[in-house]
Amino acid sequence: MMILWRGPFRPAWFPRASAAVCGAALLTCMISAQTPPAKNPTFPDGPGKAALLKVCSDCHGPESAVGQLKTRDEWTKTLDEMAANGAQGTDEEWNQILEYLDKNYSLIPVNKGDAKQLASTLDVSAATAEAIVKYRDEHGSFTAIDDLKKVPGLDPATVDARRDRFVF
Ligand code: HEC
Repeated sequence: MMILWRGPFRPAWFPRASAAVCGAALLTCMISAQTPPAKNPTFPDGPGKAALLKVCSDCHGPESAVGQLKTRDEWTKTLDEMAANGAQGTDEEWNQILEYLDKNYSLIPVNKGDAKQLASTLDVSAATAEAIVKYRDEHGSFTAIDDLKKVPGLDPATVDARRDRFVF
């Protein structure tokens, strides 16, 4: 059931309240209609998985929570919005969720990212991330996934496993 406010006196709280009274099923519909399908709906194991399934499952399914890839900044903003929507977790859980999303559901800025961003989004060591930046400095921007596979020390399987997430 969708409530439409037609009168001239639409109160300021209406958009938030309308979302809050949506049924969970409808909410999942709304979200899946506006976002592309999850690239990796399998919830890889790791720190933060339990926190995400706990904190992000109440209003919409956890699949909707990871229904699209975002940058770390966009994830930070989304988490702020979900806290405002009423999602509840400890500080530790929120931090773990952000790291988990960054590691598994974030866009990887292969040309613009610094070593720190590459290490967290690709889930590789600092040394490997430095090697990517060094290779980029020496050879110019990456233009394709195959370029990345030439970086010394970067496992091609790591690249293939994240092929949907690279931003060139
Ligand atoms: C208290 C209810 C509630 C909880 C718990 C909740 N959400 Fe949401 N979520 C919403 C509502 C309402 C919407 C649709 C309106 C909006 O975007 O704020 C939504 C939409 C979304 C969307 C799609 C819109 C967007 O901003 O991309 C994502 C992604 C999302 N939630 C992620 C999460 C994550 C991650 C968590 C766990 C940290 C979470 N949600 C927990 C209520 C909740």
